[in-house]
Amino acid sequence: MRRPSATSRATSCESTGSSARTGGRTFLLVAVLLSSFLASTAVRADEGAPRVTVLIAYHSGSGHTEKMAKGVADGVESLPGAHALLRRVEQVTADELFASDALILGSPVYWSNMAAEVKTFIDNWQFKFGVWPDLKLKNKVGAAFTTGGQVSGGKELTMLSILAAMLGNQMIVVSGGGAFGASATTEGTSPGIDEQELSSARELGRRVADVAAKLAAPAHAP
Ligand SMILES: Cc1cc2nc3c(=O)[nH]c(=O)nc-3n(C[C@H](O)[C@H](O)[C@H](O)COP(=O)(O)O)c2cc1C
Repeated sequence: MRRPSATSRATSCESTGSSARTGGRTFLLVAVLLSSFLASTAVRADEGAPRVTVLIAYHSGSGHTEKMAKGVADGVESLPGAHALLRRVEQVTADELFASDALILGSPVYWSNMAAEVKTFIDNWQFKFGVWPDLKLKNKVGAAFTTGGQVSGGKELTMLSILAAMLGNQMIVVSGGGAFGASATTEGTSPGIDEQELSSARELGRRVADVAAKLAAPAHAP
């Protein structure tokens, strides 16, 4: 049997190396084309969807309401074109409040009502941010969420108190995730936030973002 010469072995190695390089270049080209195609498809999916910012402001002493707030934010972000701004109430600036298309406000239940921190935030719309007399929150979408220790310990009252302050500011109040907003029971036989409660938080976030996007969309021609 004829053994390949050193030269032919070298040539065969070179040709293997050059075909590997060609294959590598082809792979790279396909990858670049594929990723630019996927990027353009993603842009097309967003096209036409108005960009809306939803501010999610909350107070949380031991983390339950914060967990719901993150679920609400996930729901907002699940809508193409919607951006969630997640803030504790004391962090919110006047610009963030007034530039947002919607506000979803969350509070733990304290003595069958919202926490003092959340009420102070609402009062500061005037004291710090000067919401009146220009009605700077008018026609923004508003919604509420809460967590409470007991099944029947004031969750609905807490959400309704938040919604009442929004109505007083002529906001467009919506619910979602539940009749008055999203809520969770965190003590007794139902400790922490379960998947169903988290899912109601996501549902609320998505609905508020959807309503805000519909309001932000240019009016249809007659
Ligand atoms: C001062 C105080 C008052 C509370 N009052 C109530 C109440 O009236 N009804 C209720 O269901 N839970 C009540 N709770 C329980 C909290 O609402 C519950 O633990 C909540 O999930 C805490 O949320 P957080 O972890 O975000 O702070 C109270 C808790 C505190 C600290």
